[in-house]
Amino acid sequence: MIVETKGLRKRYNHVWALDGLDLFVQEGEIFGLLGPNGSGKTTTILVLLGLTEPTAGTARVCGYDPVREPLAVKRVVGYLPEKVGFYEELSAWENLRLLTRLNGIPEPEARKRIEEALEQVGLREVAHRPVSTYSHGMRRRLGIADVLVKKPRLAILDEPTSGIDPEGAMETLDLIKRLRDEGGMTVILSSHLLYQVQRICDRVGVLHRGKMVAEGRISELIGQGQGYWALVEGATAALRARLDSEEWTLSVEDLGEGRLRVTLEEGAQPKLFRVVAEEGGVITELRPKVRTLEDIYLQYFQE
Ligand SMILES: Nc1ncnc2c1ncn2[C@@H]1O[C@H](COP(=O)(O)OP(=O)(O)OP(=O)(O)O)[C@@H](O)[C@H]1O
Ligand SMILES: [Mg+2]
Repeated sequence: MIVETKGLRKRYNHVWALDGLDLFVQEGEIFGLLGPNGSGKTTTILVLLGLTEPTAGTARVCGYDPVREPLAVKRVVGYLPEKVGFYEELSAWENLRLLTRLNGIPEPEARKRIEEALEQVGLREVAHRPVSTYSHGMRRRLGIADVLVKKPRLAILDEPTSGIDPEGAMETLDLIKRLRDEGGMTVILSSHLLYQVQRICDRVGVLHRGKMVAEGRISELIGQGQGYWALVEGATAALRARLDSEEWTLSVEDLGEGRLRVTLEEGAQPKLFRVVAEEGGVITELRPKVRTLEDIYLQYFQE
């Protein structure tokens, strides 16, 4: 396991930004850390990098403890922060050159890596322009080039596509996927845009108020926790009340004029047939409720 956390908690004043987070990432994976604004994605990343200390719990990153060995972690992990700062008056090339110096990458190798990274992120043409003339999307790409130059074993990218137009975002994600496929790099990326990143993630974890509320391969999450939904017509008030009180109904929605939309647990269909027959009413539709990742997201985030 290249990354593993157990019971991570982090308190800022009165807020628990992380509230018992268990997370693991395997070598070679692209792991998507998903969740809406304020769910704890950035806090998780800062803890993994040793940039902030957890209030409780433990983390291991590439075999190191980020609390006790933050420098060792920084050596092997590439990090794209939410907001990257560059030297504005310097060009992309010069900014990357500074970074290679800081990381002690010697001259011929540094030059090679910079050229390669600029090529990969599509900034070769503008490499010698001052960063102050760059658009938001170009800066985001430069941030990724920054990570690439380090050739890290693990790349942690905090919202790599934020502020990039949809087409640019797709290109960026394809690039990240290529880096993993060709270079064997492990990637953790955070995003609040599920539909955007799910295409390239091997596994995702969905954060909600500092807890992991769903986690797994996308194919596993989709379809997990299935049930049925039914449309009942000619329903009496008594039927409505009874369905409301049964423990196998997940929700009963009154659509008016005796129509009810009912969601039920897996396997509860015979019970529905019986109750509807007893109380009077007709089931006009009954079908499996296929859960998509989007449903999981909405379930937790539409409060
Ligand atoms: N330095 C801080 N001081 C106080 N509270 C903080 C601090 N950093 C984060 N928080 C709080 O911790 C919670 C989690 O924040 P975090 O930045 O980890 O969320 P996020 O998932 O990255 O959100 P976003 O999608 O907006 O980037 C929020 O309630 C936030 O207000
Ligand atoms: Mg964040």
